Amino acid sequence: MSDRDLQGPWALVVGATTTVGEQFARQLGAKGMNVAMVARRKERLDQVASEISEAHGVETRTIALDLMEETGLDRLQDATADLEIGFLVVNANLHRVGHFDLMSLEDKRAMAQMNFEMPVTLAHVYGGPMVERRRGAIVMLNEVNCFSPLEFDAVFQGTKAGLRLFCESLWLEYRASNVRVASIHVSGIEGSESYDAKITPGRRRLIKLLGASMDPAAIVEQALRQLERGKLILVPDTWMFVNIYALKFSDFLRLIGGRLSIMAPSAFFHWFMDGEGARAGQKERKR
Ligand SMILES: NC(=O)c1ccc[n+]([C@@H]2O[C@H](COP(=O)([O-])OP(=O)(O)OC[C@H]3O[C@@H](n4cnc5c(N)ncnc54)[C@H](OP(=O)(O)O)[C@@H]3O)[C@@H](O)[C@H]2O)c1
Repeated sequence: MSDRDLQGPWALVVGATTTVGEQFARQLGAKGMNVAMVARRKERLDQVASEISEAHGVETRTIALDLMEETGLDRLQDATADLEIGFLVVNANLHRVGHFDLMSLEDKRAMAQMNFEMPVTLAHVYGGPMVERRRGAIVMLNEVNCFSPLEFDAVFQGTKAGLRLFCESLWLEYRASNVRVASIHVSGIEGSESYDAKITPGRRRLIKLLGASMDPAAIVEQALRQLERGKLILVPDTWMFVNIYALKFSDFLRLIGGRLSIMAPSAFFHWFMDGEGARAGQKERKR
């Protein structure tokens, strides 16, 4: 049976113009699903959508909007009201780094809204109908280190840890209804602007060699395969298994507890991330 038969005729990819989101749109299109695609950049959305329709003969719909705008989610709901969404991908997120007290309340609330409130709202809007139809899939993008406390990253880490628990809890509720829920945990996404901003090119090459960063096409191929096997925590990986072990190790550190388990991940990540996009908090600390 095709994905379209298993989950429904339409996939909705939220954050579909770049890397993992774009690949979800392309690969679900290749599996025969029609694809509705959301992001702010209309031209880029239209370009990817027309390539998908041409390559796979499926329908596409582009919805250019800013999810952070007050009416963004209502507009998205209106724009998809006539579609049977059987596969929801939540990829868009917002990441700001900085000392908690020096970060604006606006930035903090924006991250909470984008990384937690938005996915919960989308699961509410599209999950309920999936449960009624007794078929569907919801996948949400996350990071391998979502349970690591990180200095200068308190709000972001809080939202991602919460998102993982949200997915796990929803999985428990939805499994009896034949609706698959999964949390996808990745480390570096090659080609992602936010990844490039946090890590300098030399270190990115090393990370790639170690298998801790991946090409978005491979990430999505593996995530879809793991989802088909019924997994809840999806961890795309290379032959080095770095991502799987990083995730297991960070979960394990929580069990040990104590100051070391709280301070070690933060020290490691601040050494690891040497790009300007990850340095804001450290500069502020030195003042
Ligand atoms: N980057 C990494 O290395 C990395 C590592 C671990 C986990 N992850 C996770 O992987 C996912 C993707 O990360 P990413 O760095 O590729 O994300 P990103 O560059 O911030 O955005 C991904 C997509 O979301 C769209 N988007 C962003 N803000 C939006 C808004 N306000 N309204 C509508 N669309 C919006 C972007 O398109 P437009 O700009 O056209 O709107 C793009 O298509 C995230 O959930 C992240 O937590 C990433």
